[in-house]
Amino acid sequence: MKGLAVLGSPHNNGNNAKILKRVITGLKEAKPELELDYLQIKDLKIEPCLACYNCKKKQGCIIDDDMIDIYSKLDQADLILLASPIYFNTVTAQLKALIDRCQALWANKFILQKPLIDTEKKRIGAFISTAGEPLSEDSFKYVVGTLDLFFKGADTEYYDNFFVPNIDNKSVTEQSNVLQEAEDWGKKLAEQLSD
Ligand SMILES: Cc1cc2nc3c(=O)[nH]c(=O)nc-3n(C[C@H](O)[C@H](O)[C@H](O)COP(=O)(O)O)c2cc1C
Repeated sequence: MKGLAVLGSPHNNGNNAKILKRVITGLKEAKPELELDYLQIKDLKIEPCLACYNCKKKQGCIIDDDMIDIYSKLDQADLILLASPIYFNTVTAQLKALIDRCQALWANKFILQKPLIDTEKKRIGAFISTAGEPLSEDSFKYVVGTLDLFFKGADTEYYDNFFVPNIDNKSVTEQSNVLQEAEDWGKKLAEQLSD
C-alpha cells in the first residue's frame, strides 16, 4: 500500500508541514504497512504547464523535470495527500504548477486515449489547508474547486479536507487540539484504505 504526500507550502516547517506530519503519524499508527513518499514542493523542480498540447499527441509530458517521477508516484498511490496554505483563495503557485501539469493526465486519457496512470485503480485523495485570515464564507470556498478537478484528473476519490483558518493570528501550535485532531483525521483516512 502506497501513499504520496505533497507539502505545497514554501515553509518546510510551517503550519501545513506540522499538520501534515501529524496526519502522517496518525496514518502510520493505523496502517503501519503504508509506504509513504513525502515531497516538499520547495525541493522540486516543476515547470508550469506550457499549454503546448503535446500531451494530446504523445503519452506523458514533454517537459523533463520532477513531474515525470510524480506522474508515476500518482499512478502507484493508494492515497494522495496534498497540503497547501491559501494564497489568494487558492493553493500556492508551486502546488498549482504540479496540478496544472496534470492536464497531461486528462489529455492522455480523454483525447489520446492512452492513459498515463491506471484509471481503474482505487485511490483516495485528501487535502489539508490553512488560511491566514479568520474563518469566513470564502476562506476555503474556491480552493476546493481546484482540488476537485485535480483529483478527478488523477482518477482519485476526493475523500475529505482538513482546514484550519486564522493561522496568521494563532499558529497551529497555539490553537488547542488542532494537531491532535490532525492525528485523529489521519487515522480516519487510514480506515478508508482497503487492505
Ligand atoms: C502570497 C500570499 C497570499 C495569501 N493569501 C491569503 C488569502 O487569500 N487568504 C488567507 O486567509 N490567507 C492568505 N495568506 C496567508 C497564508 O494562508 C498563511 O500565512 C499560511 O496559511 C501559513 O501556512 P504555512 O505556515 O504552512 O506557510 C497569504 C499569504 C501569502 C504569502
